[in-house]
Amino acid sequence: MAPVRDPNTLSNYDAWRTKHTTANFKVDFAAKSLRGSVVLELESQTDKASNEIILDSSYVDVACIKLNSTPSKWEIKDRTGPNGSPVHISVPSGASKGEVVKLEIDVATTEKCTALQWLTPAQTSNKKAPFMFSQCQAIHARSIFPCQDTPDVKSTFDFNIQSPHVVVASGVPLPDAPEEAGQEKIYKFQQKVPIPSYLFALASGDIVSAPIGKRSSVATGPNELKASQWELQDDMDKFLNAAEKLVFPYRWGEYNVLILPPSFPYGGMENPIFTFATPTIISGDRQNIDVIAHELAHSWSGNLVTSCSWEHFWLNEGWTMYLERRILTSIHQNDAYFDFSAIIGWKQLEEAIKEYGKDHEYTKLCISHKGIDPDDAFSTVPYEKGFHFIYYLDRLVGRENFDKFIPHYFSKWANKSLDSYEFKDTFLEFFGAPEYASLESKLSEIDWEGRFFSPGLPPKPELDTSLVDVCFQLADKWRQADFSPSSSDISSWTGNQVLVFLNLVQNFEVPLTPEHSQKLGKAYGLTESKNVELKSAYYQIAMAAKDTSSYAGVAELLGEVGRMKFVRTLFRSLNNVDRDLAVRTFEKNRDFYHPICRALVEKDLGLGAPGSA
Ligand code: BES
Ligand code: ZN
Repeated sequence: MAPVRDPNTLSNYDAWRTKHTTANFKVDFAAKSLRGSVVLELESQTDKASNEIILDSSYVDVACIKLNSTPSKWEIKDRTGPNGSPVHISVPSGASKGEVVKLEIDVATTEKCTALQWLTPAQTSNKKAPFMFSQCQAIHARSIFPCQDTPDVKSTFDFNIQSPHVVVASGVPLPDAPEEAGQEKIYKFQQKVPIPSYLFALASGDIVSAPIGKRSSVATGPNELKASQWELQDDMDKFLNAAEKLVFPYRWGEYNVLILPPSFPYGGMENPIFTFATPTIISGDRQNIDVIAHELAHSWSGNLVTSCSWEHFWLNEGWTMYLERRILTSIHQNDAYFDFSAIIGWKQLEEAIKEYGKDHEYTKLCISHKGIDPDDAFSTVPYEKGFHFIYYLDRLVGRENFDKFIPHYFSKWANKSLDSYEFKDTFLEFFGAPEYASLESKLSEIDWEGRFFSPGLPPKPELDTSLVDVCFQLADKWRQADFSPSSSDISSWTGNQVLVFLNLVQNFEVPLTPEHSQKLGKAYGLTESKNVELKSAYYQIAMAAKDTSSYAGVAELLGEVGRMKFVRTLFRSLNNVDRDLAVRTFEKNRDFYHPICRALVEKDLGLGAPGSA
């Protein structure tokens, strides 16, 4: 019996393991609640040594729990910190090792559910129907239904979802059942690849779809469909082919993208079959679809091979950043692209570490999560420190060798979860083979403990700067107060090059003057840009310049996008220059933001109820 290795679950998954989950829900838009039943099939890991099953839950209403079809004794205990309230279900006679018991849980979500956002028709773009969507990573699945809410447990799923509007889920859609007169339709999906609870996903609303590739379609609101299809249709198959060449064939069947309303709190979420994505990637210039390459890459790193707890989250995100950059480099057919993107990542890592302080726990690759809410520990660190660790290993053994390790690692751990030490063992075992004998001394150089647990920046790699050099040169010109810009300065650049340039200017020790900052915005068309990455980077410069004329634009943007990457950084800066406006803007848009975003911004602005932080 392996000990529980995830500090963010209260479940006793060392004694019982969920093998299959059936989710039967009705989407009740009027009550803003999912209600129905969830059936968990749990396999006993011990020989009658456990007389209770403990599940995670958070703010759910449980009406009844049946054990093997008979009402059972159960109790929801008090909340303990960020992990929620454990549900204890008694199994009086236990179960023999390998025996499967069935728990049927009647459950409804409540107003306090942190995983779901409910939008009224007025909050949608065509105003015709309400909309709901879920976001379960990291530990929000437990606020939809009681479960073993840990990435260390994987279950297959059946979804039976009744709704008056189209439903999308993280399973393969099954043919429609014949509709009964007067009854709402039941949408059915099946997920045959075992997935952790954080990949459970649902959305429902006025959703239509269109093809974007041989195995892919995009789904979104009717008003957004054409633009979404245009943004993705050129690259989707290229991404899939490149990823398959790098790792091995895609194992999930379809790969689709759901473009959500603007309050979606992340850039993208790798829900299987349907990646959920922010509408900010539909920028009309195909400059932000690296998010899709990223979420697609999770089909191997994260969804097939999963970190066993949020302490080893870098195994998901670091590997995904690495695969994303390899995919995009092969499509651009330019090796300099890889280094360019890695330099951007390094810069972001430097900034995050500066912000936290170089000794902060959250700057470690492996972050202790005892008593910690994973949403609080979330940052770019696991992404970029993780990426730079994988990239370091790649260079150490050489690209040709590393490319053989990639499919080995992903097939060895497919459908399983692992920790950093298991990753280390897999790497050393693979390169310990006789044909790699010449690598021996290099392998012994790797400081695994230091890489896993040292806070702050890792050793700096050498990177090809050819694509960033122009960004530095232009930024240097802006150090001179009399520089006269022209739109041609950046007209041939990629969106990411403009972004690097803007980040450099934002970090000037002496900020621009308000006039100079305005000149920059006008010359490069930034305030009118449909590209929110660029627009928000520009607003950072404007706020650093104390250009008060820009604050209204910042407040307006904060009412249009709910992606936390923009919202949190814009709020932090606005709070520094005009706290009153920041607080008013937050209050005005409170209902627009997703519950996760709302809670984090509330903390960032120091607005939490006393004692709730
Ligand atoms: N899995 C993440 C999003 C996530 C992480 C949600 C942790 C909740 C908790 C997703 O794959 C992601 O990394 N999205 C990025 C995309 C980017 C790195 C291209 C985002 O949202 O910005
Ligand atoms: Zn990711």
